[in-house]
Amino acid sequence: MEENQLNPLKALDEWEDDLLLRYPDPEQIAEGKETKDYRQYDDPARDTVKEFYRLNHTYQTYDFVMEKRADYLRFNRKEMTVWEAFDFLNQLVDDSDPDTDLSQFQHLLQTSEAIRQDGHPDWMVLTGLMHDMGKVLCLFGEPQWAVVGDTFPVGCAYSPKIVYPEFFSANQDYNNPRYNTKLGVYTAGCGLRNVHMSWGHDEYVYQMMKDYLPEPALYMLRYHSFYAWHREGEYEYLLDDHDREMLKWVHLFNPYDLYSKNPVAPDWEKLRAYYEALVKKYLPEKLKF
Ligand SMILES: [Fe+2]
Ligand SMILES: [Fe+2]
Repeated sequence: MEENQLNPLKALDEWEDDLLLRYPDPEQIAEGKETKDYRQYDDPARDTVKEFYRLNHTYQTYDFVMEKRADYLRFNRKEMTVWEAFDFLNQLVDDSDPDTDLSQFQHLLQTSEAIRQDGHPDWMVLTGLMHDMGKVLCLFGEPQWAVVGDTFPVGCAYSPKIVYPEFFSANQDYNNPRYNTKLGVYTAGCGLRNVHMSWGHDEYVYQMMKDYLPEPALYMLRYHSFYAWHREGEYEYLLDDHDREMLKWVHLFNPYDLYSKNPVAPDWEKLRAYYEALVKKYLPEKLKF
């Protein structure tokens, strides 16, 4: 496949813009205003998102996820300080719209600042800062459909509430009796920790951070793109009590990710000292990628 066939999104956050159509900001609806001209459903930009999900749903098989885990979870590619890692991540520049799109780092900083302004614990601020670090997978050569987009369990039947569910019929697992029953390879109530999710930036950053942040933070990282669970309430039969307890933290985090985008970039020079101390408090000198 050619590069543009693998990567239909012009910009990585086209997927996130599309999320705002599916899950608009309730505060802006209540106030009767929208600060951004959200794309309409019939916008041609939606076709690229649709193609993105066609690829994602076709190629995110159980075997694919196992392969990516075996490779990336060795963390043998690179070692970087957090600050070097942000510079690295910022190489993901969207050529389509360089003036209006904020860098990856600025999205992270807007998320963490919105969390901080609401007085949440500092580990949650750090979670906001780090939550999309897994997008470096794109810089390691992964196609967009293996990095961003809604995530979902593999190895069992797909929820019809996952976006564009019709595309799952092209997935090789769809007709495999090992994987296509309600529980598939799992047992009822086994807990999400025993469930393999489609591969992407959530699982990767969770694995990177799992020794350093408290449990609610790890749920925020690991499941922030699992909309079929945290927004649609699906997959109840896979959950255990711990998941049900942690869901409130995933809910708490989601609006900061979705609704904190602002065209005005935060003033990093004013914020630097706070974040340097925060990173030092929780994270090691270098992170492994
Ligand atoms: Fe994300
Ligand atoms: Fe994000």
